[in-house]
Amino acid sequence: MNPVSSASSLDPHRLKQDFPVLQQESHGRPLVYLDNANTSQKPQCVIDAVSNFYAHNNANIHRGVYDLSMRATQAHENARGTIAKFIGASRPEEIIFVRGTTEAINLVAQTFVRSRVGAGDEILVTAMEHHSNIVPWQILCEQTGAVLQVAPINDAGEVILDAYREKLSEKTKFVAMTHVSNALGTVNPIAQMIALAHEKNIPVLIDGAQAAPHLPINVSELGCDFYAVSSHKMFGPTGVGALYGRFDLLDSMPPYQGGGDMIRSVTFEHTTYNDVPYKFEAGTPHIAGAIGFAAAAQYIVDIGYDKLLAYEEMLLDYATQALTAIPEIRIIGTAAEKVSVLSFVVDGVHPHDVGTILDQKGIAIRTGHHCAQPIMDRYDIPATVRASFALYNTKEDVDALAESLKSVMEVFR
Ligand code: ALA
Repeated sequence: MNPVSSASSLDPHRLKQDFPVLQQESHGRPLVYLDNANTSQKPQCVIDAVSNFYAHNNANIHRGVYDLSMRATQAHENARGTIAKFIGASRPEEIIFVRGTTEAINLVAQTFVRSRVGAGDEILVTAMEHHSNIVPWQILCEQTGAVLQVAPINDAGEVILDAYREKLSEKTKFVAMTHVSNALGTVNPIAQMIALAHEKNIPVLIDGAQAAPHLPINVSELGCDFYAVSSHKMFGPTGVGALYGRFDLLDSMPPYQGGGDMIRSVTFEHTTYNDVPYKFEAGTPHIAGAIGFAAAAQYIVDIGYDKLLAYEEMLLDYATQALTAIPEIRIIGTAAEKVSVLSFVVDGVHPHDVGTILDQKGIAIRTGHHCAQPIMDRYDIPATVRASFALYNTKEDVDALAESLKSVMEVFR
């Protein structure tokens, strides 16, 4: 399906029609959904892919000699191929299906990195990480005696590259960093940051959860060692995601979880493991989820990144101007390179109160620390209000937000 086949630019009103959940009212007004960094909505083609699988092809995979199971296996492996292509992996085996970015990072921490670090070694992250790219490393540090190092950010919310370079030392055994900040919208110069780490032979994992719905990803061009994405942030089902790993690294890694399908042979004395990627996919996977995930990736590809990038850049500029025009609003995260995520605080009004009033106006927005408490500490604030946009958000959505924020100010004046 090509949602905008003949249009020369992205038409968000047309795309909105693809998303059934957006065709509803909330508190008597058209729903304005601005919590896309939390989770995105799902187009009909993704819903159909999942429901068609259950209606016509459902069986367990890799375990049946009968036609239905072979069709299910084929559909699941086709999904792996689609995701591999989507993120520029050189072969489908480099894609491991996981529950999401969180599980992908835990997998790498507990297999690849755990087998390579000891007391006094260092893991480097940045000051703009989501908790899912902090806590797995803290757990690993507790287990091994390794030390977590943090590359600082400036007031705009950009990594200070000189400080990052200085943190890459003889002791650094791994770098884990986000491509895009969920709380600030910053796009990190990851190609440059990966190259700096590789100059010192330090492997790198990129948390791509927030990048995937907004930016083209090509892991082969980036040269990263691992890259993690979540389906539900990019218009696919919840509970599934992908870990890309360079094949030679995956092949050298011990397994993560033990169970069915990840083995070649089992006796009570000794078990041998399956090939990559199955070695890392213990148990029955989220088969329908992987198929929906692939449909979501294809949906983005069919729209086209040229259109997507141009449209979201325009929408971010428009929203930034609209909010900057309200004197009581201070935007948190003003990096030169951003995706369409706007975090802000409102003078004298707690973010949760802002969110509650906006909800009454039909606007769904996240308030809080966004699973990134160290960022809130960096700006010395408890929380922000965050408007995060997707390809179906319109200028009218931004206007509704700006108008409703003015009425928040009237309530608290
Ligand atoms: N990562 C999710 C968010 O940013 C939870 O809202």
